[in-house]
Amino acid sequence: MDSRFNSQDRSILSDSDNVKHIRAFAPATVANMGCGFDIMGMTLDGVGDIVSVYVKDGDGMSIRNESDAELPEDMEKNVITPALRAMIKAYGSPIQVDVVIEKKIAPGSGIGSSAASSAAAVFALNEALGRPFFPEELVEFAMEGEKLISGGTPHADNAAPAILGGVVLMRGYEPLDIVRLPVLEQFCCSVVHPAIMVSTKMAREVLPKEIPLRLAVKQWGNVGGLVAGLALGDVNLIGRAMCDVVVEPHRKRFIPGFDALREKVLAEGALAMNISGAGPSVFALSSDMETAAAVGEVMRRHFEEMDIACDVYVENISNIGARVIHG
Ligand code: HSE
Repeated sequence: MDSRFNSQDRSILSDSDNVKHIRAFAPATVANMGCGFDIMGMTLDGVGDIVSVYVKDGDGMSIRNESDAELPEDMEKNVITPALRAMIKAYGSPIQVDVVIEKKIAPGSGIGSSAASSAAAVFALNEALGRPFFPEELVEFAMEGEKLISGGTPHADNAAPAILGGVVLMRGYEPLDIVRLPVLEQFCCSVVHPAIMVSTKMAREVLPKEIPLRLAVKQWGNVGGLVAGLALGDVNLIGRAMCDVVVEPHRKRFIPGFDALREKVLAEGALAMNISGAGPSVFALSSDMETAAAVGEVMRRHFEEMDIACDVYVENISNIGARVIHG
């Protein structure tokens, strides 16, 4: 893997006590965006995970969870471990990295919880090392974490927007070809996370291995329409194209009253509603904040009426991905 790493400049010990400390934030993201299974994702504003790295000479890694979220005790099961290992291997020199996680996105929520942790970790380590890697390379490292939780398939539709920000298309994976698309300023996203357990692995296992050509034709028409809608700033085209005939039919059974919820959300004025990533979160896109807030309330009522607790977020789509935070 190419990098901007200069082999003459491997000193990372610039902070006091020979420990370099960086604290980074990476945002929540909505993968798939309806029709773009595994190839499209967008960045939410405001909600995300924080990861600190402490880097010094040595050879090893530790991870400490400083939040209420339940994370695996076994470091080998934490998404950050394979992501940082891949990065340290590419760096080419052993280092000691001690990681502290402040998890704000509920694991298994469907808004890129695992990707936000991996993204914040690789972003922080890259800063601590003096930026030896390009952002696109960080996406590849973070994808190792996604591989761990998805049952072996690396995908970047959460990791890429979490690192780069904005709306992102993975034109291809071999090699990774990332295209950043324009973010329409007026876009707002309402997301509801019902308290239902759906793991990414389980949500991928229900998918067919092959799809009929007639569905493929519909789906690639929609992906083309979505990309064109974003590029042209055509809000109605985006709404029409955000429609998934391949994956959603197999996954919506995990989300009680999914079809009825969509009817209510569209009646409230949203442009489109789909499953967020592997679920169970559901997102709706609106072209103004007032509509997005009203849609969020419709979503909340839908689950509360079924005695299912839920969290609702109403956020702008953000052009900013992972970043260093101070304090
Ligand atoms: N594209 C992925 C999926 C996102 O839908 O399974 C979840 O990580």
